[in-house]
Amino acid sequence: MSPLLDAVERLSREELESLQIERLRTSLQHAYDHVAFYRDAFDKAGVGPGDCRTLADLARFPFTVKADLRDNYPFGMFAVPQQDVRRIHASSGTTGRPTVVGYTERDIDTWADVVARSIRAAGGRPGHKVHVAYGYGLFTGGLGAHYGAERLGCTVIPASGGMTVRQVQLIQDCKPDIIMVTPTYMLTLLDEFERQGIDPRTTSLKVGIFGAEPWTEAMRTEIEERFAIDAVDIYGLSEVMGPGVAQECVETKDGLHIWEDHFYPEIVDPLTGEVLPDGERGELVFTSLTKEAMPVIRYRTRDLTRLLPGTARAFRRMEKVTGRSDDLVIVRGVNLFPTQVEEIVLRTPALSAHFQLHLTREGRMDELTVRAEARPDATAEDRAAAARSVAAAVKESIGVTAAVEVVDPESLERSVGKFRRIVDLRNGPAARA
Ligand code: DLL
Repeated sequence: MSPLLDAVERLSREELESLQIERLRTSLQHAYDHVAFYRDAFDKAGVGPGDCRTLADLARFPFTVKADLRDNYPFGMFAVPQQDVRRIHASSGTTGRPTVVGYTERDIDTWADVVARSIRAAGGRPGHKVHVAYGYGLFTGGLGAHYGAERLGCTVIPASGGMTVRQVQLIQDCKPDIIMVTPTYMLTLLDEFERQGIDPRTTSLKVGIFGAEPWTEAMRTEIEERFAIDAVDIYGLSEVMGPGVAQECVETKDGLHIWEDHFYPEIVDPLTGEVLPDGERGELVFTSLTKEAMPVIRYRTRDLTRLLPGTARAFRRMEKVTGRSDDLVIVRGVNLFPTQVEEIVLRTPALSAHFQLHLTREGRMDELTVRAEARPDATAEDRAAAARSVAAAVKESIGVTAAVEVVDPESLERSVGKFRRIVDLRNGPAARA
């Protein structure tokens, strides 16, 4: 193992678990003592912080869901006085009230530590230049990445999202080693490099740390080949912290190591809530172990994955998130995640990686249309063949009939951050997935 690891990254499983149970008990007590919502929920479930003697006892505690955070908007879930809250962020919900999350000084410190650890696991080292193209602001991506890169001893280029022409110029001029950005915005940058006649394989970039939205192995291959970089996955959510809850190690690229000394994971059956053993697929649930301003107890992420044993680190891994239960599209009774279509589009040579799913309703029937962009050099025959092959693959591997429209290069909307893969027009033009 690398000599650069934090001491906690060298703990044995046993040592880690004893640290977890001690922290878990403290976190439950903190939540119970300082947040009325948790006190009521625990009381109602007939459990108290003292009932948690082993990690398995956590299963006796009630879940927390997004609606609980909304109901307590803006500051009802905070466990410290307002003057101790050093910063707030908000989650990126598209409907209804946002959910606000808070951090004490120590929380921001912990966050910087886990992101620094994440960048290092991705291959980053002190002295590297890190171009941050996650949005800055209420979204946790930009500032989360920023503080972590500084903590590691890197030089940060806080580009934020958007102004794509300038991003390319900054990359050409400042020569960063690492880029942190959503995978779909990386594709937008790819187009811009090509538009300017610059071969994206010739940039200074060596590593991309991509997250905030689901992306597939096919997308990894596409980005790695087109940019000649290593592409690794970073996961997180504002309710739990922000980016840096889990990170893929560059030497193994085999799923994301969860920083389990701060975030305790469980996988539950999304329907029954029953805890599932490691290796089984279900919904990811997190309990914060050290957070002060806004502890979360058994927070249901809606992200679907499974837990796997550690490889490059002793911490358990989570498999790449293929989708969240909210992104699940049900077309004529068949369940589908956009990532399944991503795999198919990306292995079709005449298509670029830009695609969207349009859902409409004809009478009482749902219609799915895959709109995918042709590569600039694709002929009319290539396009027609691509449309046929995508339709056949969607039918064959997902089991649903889709119309496929191959559209001109650069005709679909471009991502500047988290990309809207699904355009749901089933309840009129205003409805969004
Ligand atoms: O997206 C935090 C983040 C920023 C993570 C930058 C990584 C990089 P939220 O806006 O609260 O926070 O959205 C969280 O995004 O529950 C997942 O559904 C999705 N998500 C985040 N990372 C990944 C990933 C940030 N690597 C929600 N793969 C989460 C798949 C991801 N989905």
